[in-house]
Amino acid sequence: TMDAGGGLRTPIVAVLGHVDHGKTSLLDKVRGSAVTSGEAGAITQHIGATAVPLETISDIAGRLVDPDDFDLPGLLFIDTPGHHSFSTLRSRGGALADIAVLVVDVNDGFQPQTLEAIDILKRTQTPFIVAANKVDTTPGWNPQPDTPIQQSLEAQSDRAEQRLNQNLYEIIGELSDNGFSADMYWRVQNFRGNIGVVPVSAETGEGVPDLLAVLMGLSQRYMKEDMSIDTTGPGSGTVLEVKEERGFGTTLDVVLYDGTIRTDDTVVVGAKNDPIVTDVRALLQPQPLAEIRTEKRFEKVDEVSAAAGVKIAAPDLDDALAGAPVRVVRNQSVEAVIEEVEAELAEIEVDTAENGVVVKADTLGSLEAIADALDEAEIPIVRAEVGDVAPRDIAVASTADETKHEVILAFNVDVLPDARREASDRNIRLFEDDVIYQLIDEYEAFVDEMER
Ligand code: GTP
Ligand code: MG
Repeated sequence: TMDAGGGLRTPIVAVLGHVDHGKTSLLDKVRGSAVTSGEAGAITQHIGATAVPLETISDIAGRLVDPDDFDLPGLLFIDTPGHHSFSTLRSRGGALADIAVLVVDVNDGFQPQTLEAIDILKRTQTPFIVAANKVDTTPGWNPQPDTPIQQSLEAQSDRAEQRLNQNLYEIIGELSDNGFSADMYWRVQNFRGNIGVVPVSAETGEGVPDLLAVLMGLSQRYMKEDMSIDTTGPGSGTVLEVKEERGFGTTLDVVLYDGTIRTDDTVVVGAKNDPIVTDVRALLQPQPLAEIRTEKRFEKVDEVSAAAGVKIAAPDLDDALAGAPVRVVRNQSVEAVIEEVEAELAEIEVDTAENGVVVKADTLGSLEAIADALDEAEIPIVRAEVGDVAPRDIAVASTADETKHEVILAFNVDVLPDARREASDRNIRLFEDDVIYQLIDEYEAFVDEMER
């Protein structure tokens, strides 16, 4: 693990954006490895975390990052696949990430998942910057591998620079339409009130030094307020994924955002029913600069401190929920910690009404985000749960008071074959999407159509 010496926690940086806009490629560039090339169809299947030590950041950023200016141990990047809701990344305090990088393809501009990410960043008040990626695809571009972007711009023809600027100003305009004042990062003085746009290429590495420098500066600022975080106390984390792992049974991919976790620690984990109480059998950690998703030979470690991505192997984890809290029991009774976890789960619990729609989602975080969006749209919910659409969901929907409630909104989950059959038999409409506002738009269009 990366240790700051002074106990400063590693900032957690979420990388998010629309499918294919280059999140994984950017991290690849930083890692110097090639996860993308090893991926089936280059589509990221899971959330992973990558720790990048300060040394490496300063190596890549060159003169833009002097390690002596920073007392942060490095950055922990969380890669969120475009089809996977960023809203899984919640924590006790709200957002799991301290800061975020919103990756936008300069040619493609804002797309559905960009807007969804912006909504969540707004809601969780997460400071972020925009990586305007793929600048190398600008017609007439003259690549300057791995250089700071302003240096690279000097090497471009006026025509190429103008073309790029046009795209960049479109992105700045989109940000402004969404309530954020934004500008090229080198013109931004106050990153709290303004969004910095960093032109980059994951392909050529241009602008990557700038991206890292801005991220370091931003986190140094924002982490200062959190300096009191005790990285030696009992650990707190969030489940990113519940996963079967050969030789270990069901394991949890967790981002530890506070404290430490040790082998043999008792942990309490949020689950489908009552919280799970179990003892950690093994802590599996990828090496720095390795990727939790592809690292086959995990290293067993005795202790991990925040912030870090770690795989926890322990008995009885089958019912654990993605997005749920994980707490280490130390200096406190198990009962007290169970209560904490229950209280936190209750906070995420969706208020349901007597009548309304059935909602199924992949994680607690996405369920919460959908419930918020439905609430805003004044659409009542009769049942909200994490998991695939099952026959009992159809049963609930078919007892609805009116036709517009005889529906199921399914976010990023499967519909079990039995359930699909029953839905068709009982005339229950299924809405399936992996973009929250599209899901709600589709439902609203259906209601409009029906009421016409
Ligand atoms: P998901 O995980 O599916 O959401 O996508 P992603 O955002 O991680 O995108 P990914 O990194 O997989 O990149 C998508 C495609 O864009 C790949 O074919 C990359 O090679 C390409 N790409 C990414 N960044 C750049 C860039 O800066 N320049 C060029 N020319 N291609 C890029
Ligand atoms: Mg990806």
